[in-house]
Amino acid sequence: MDVWILESAQAVAVKAADICAELIQAKPDARLGLATGATPQALYAELVRRNQLGQLSFARVETFNLDEYLGVGPNQPRSFHHAMRDSLFDHVDIDPINTHLPAGDAADPAAEAAAYDALIKARGGIDLQILGIGRNGHIGFNEPGSSLRSRTRVKTLSRATLRDNQLGKPDFEAPVMAITMGIGTILDARALLVLATGWAKAPAVAAALEGPLSARCPASAIQLHPDATVVLDPAAAADLRLTEYYELVDRARRHLASH
Ligand code: PGA
Repeated sequence: MDVWILESAQAVAVKAADICAELIQAKPDARLGLATGATPQALYAELVRRNQLGQLSFARVETFNLDEYLGVGPNQPRSFHHAMRDSLFDHVDIDPINTHLPAGDAADPAAEAAAYDALIKARGGIDLQILGIGRNGHIGFNEPGSSLRSRTRVKTLSRATLRDNQLGKPDFEAPVMAITMGIGTILDARALLVLATGWAKAPAVAAALEGPLSARCPASAIQLHPDATVVLDPAAAADLRLTEYYELVDRARRHLASH
C-alpha cells in the first residue's frame, strides 16, 4: 500500500488527477472505475480542466461506476448517472457509450447486477478503480458485514449511510437499496486509487489502512490489493499510527526521484 499524506484536499485532487492522467497517457483506451459522492468531485473538476486545456483526452477511455441507487432511472436527478454527467461526462470528450453504471431501474436487479459484473470482465477488467471511503468504512455500497469476496449485487444501505446521503439535502429522498460492485469485484481492478479528505473520515481511514482485515470495515479489504495507492489530506490521516513510516517512505521516494 502506497500512502500519500498531502497538504490539502486540493493537493489530493491534483495527485489523483496525475495518477489518472499517467494511466490514460500510457493507455488511451484505459478502463477507469469511478465513484460518486463528495470526495472525488475536486478530482473530476481537475480532470475536466485538463481535458478542456487539451492536456488529456477521454476519447477512448471507458468508465465503470461503482454503484447506482435501486429503483432510480438514469435521468432522475438523484441518480448517480445524473451526478456523473453533471460532474464529469458532460464536460469532457468521453463517448457516452463508453460510460457504464448499473441500471438502477432494471426490471430484474439481481440479473442486472450479474450482467454488470460480467460486462466488466468481458471488457477486460478495470485498470484503475477510484474509491472513496464512507464514515462507516464502506467502499461502493458494501456496508459493514459485506463479504470480502462479494460480487456486484443488490445491497441494503445502512442507517449511517442513509443519514450521510441525506446530509445537507433536506428534500432528498434517499433510496434505501443500491446495486453495487462487490468487494471481490473491486479487488479485481489492476490498481486502486483510494481518496479521503476531512476529519470525519479519520477513524474509517485508520481502520481501513491499519486495522484488522475485517468485513466490519469493508475498506480494510484494500490491504489485500497488491497495487493500492491511498491519497489523504492531513485531517483524514489524523488517526493513523504509522505516519512516521509513511513520511519515511515519502522521503525515500523524493530522494530516488531526485537522482
Ligand atoms: P463521500 O462518500 O465521498 O460523499 O464522503 C464516500 C463514500 O461513501 O464512499
